[in-house]
Amino acid sequence: MTARRALIAGNWKMNGLRADGLALAKDLAAWLDGEGRDASNRLDMLVCPPATLVALVAEAVTGSRLAVGGQDCHAAEAGAHTGDTSAWMLKDLGCGFVIVGHSERRTDHGESDETVRAKAAAALAAGLVPIICIGETEAERDAGRTLAVVSRQINGSLPEGATGTNVVIAYEPVWAIGTGRTPTTEDVAEVHARIRDEARGRLGAGADDLRILYGGSVKPGNAAELLGLADVDGALVGGASLKAADFQAIASAS
Ligand code: G3P
Repeated sequence: MTARRALIAGNWKMNGLRADGLALAKDLAAWLDGEGRDASNRLDMLVCPPATLVALVAEAVTGSRLAVGGQDCHAAEAGAHTGDTSAWMLKDLGCGFVIVGHSERRTDHGESDETVRAKAAAALAAGLVPIICIGETEAERDAGRTLAVVSRQINGSLPEGATGTNVVIAYEPVWAIGTGRTPTTEDVAEVHARIRDEARGRLGAGADDLRILYGGSVKPGNAAELLGLADVDGALVGGASLKAADFQAIASAS
């Protein structure tokens, strides 16, 4: 096993116009090359802007240490899919990553594990690293089904050809997203350990290289505690990734 390099990823969701996105991305890129150099020496930092801003942001940060990704992709390479973006299009813009299976996509667009797996496979084929999101709802947690749900999602969403280094898993409890609530560190540790065990069934020893991110109300104030856990290899950050100072503080805490 090689030491896992942390990944701090920002999911901007449907936020930002050109001026905001450009300013935020430039600020982060400059920080990684300056004041944040210590952080950038030990971790990867990624922003996933809305589709409208990907080209602008990718061009603005070319040559910097800030990586750019998409928030979703279609499973097909091209074709009659109005409004969709393919993994190959994202790659063409300079992306290295794409989020797939975010709970907002699973809920708003009825995406199943099978759909997510197909999207993750397309990402791999296009040369992108898919960040595959999984996580239980509050009702599932209350029913004591958290571990069963994440096990099902990981088995159903990992594509053929996945290895410990070409995919990333993000555990985001649905009830913790944007709510200010987080699971206890014991709960996060337990779920992340289960995810790695479950991944071992598919990836073998490669599971030790797999980066498993935590997402859901990560803030500067709780980042050190969450990111200090053994099987937490980074964070997928929503709201706090929209403020450069907060996102930088989260990266510095890891
Ligand atoms: O993908 C990140 C996200 O769902 C978490 O959002 O705002 O709770 O950090 P937030």
